[in-house]
Amino acid sequence: MERIHVADVDNLPEKLGKSVKVRNYDIALFKLSNGVIRAIENSCPHKGGALSQGIISGESVYCPLHDWKICTEDGKAQKPDEGCVKTFKVEIKDTKVYVCI
Ligand code: FES
Repeated sequence: MERIHVADVDNLPEKLGKSVKVRNYDIALFKLSNGVIRAIENSCPHKGGALSQGIISGESVYCPLHDWKICTEDGKAQKPDEGCVKTFKVEIKDTKVYVCI
């Protein structure tokens, strides 16, 4: 597994997504209101909406297209919707944010 530097903690606004391209992945990065940083595939399991443009609430992001609620921890859509996005491990070293691919 490779660690790739994708952002700096201080440059990630809270509760606003940021999309980053890493290898062949389009990844949505989020800094939650508790300071935790999450990285998930930037494509909604419904019809591919850009989750990086969604609204964060707690641990979840609401897709900007049709409002599905996706958990940023396990990538699962909240019922009754179904589906899952890939999640990526995030590591922080000093103030640098790394995604593990
Ligand atoms: S594309 Fe995300 S809810 Fe439809």
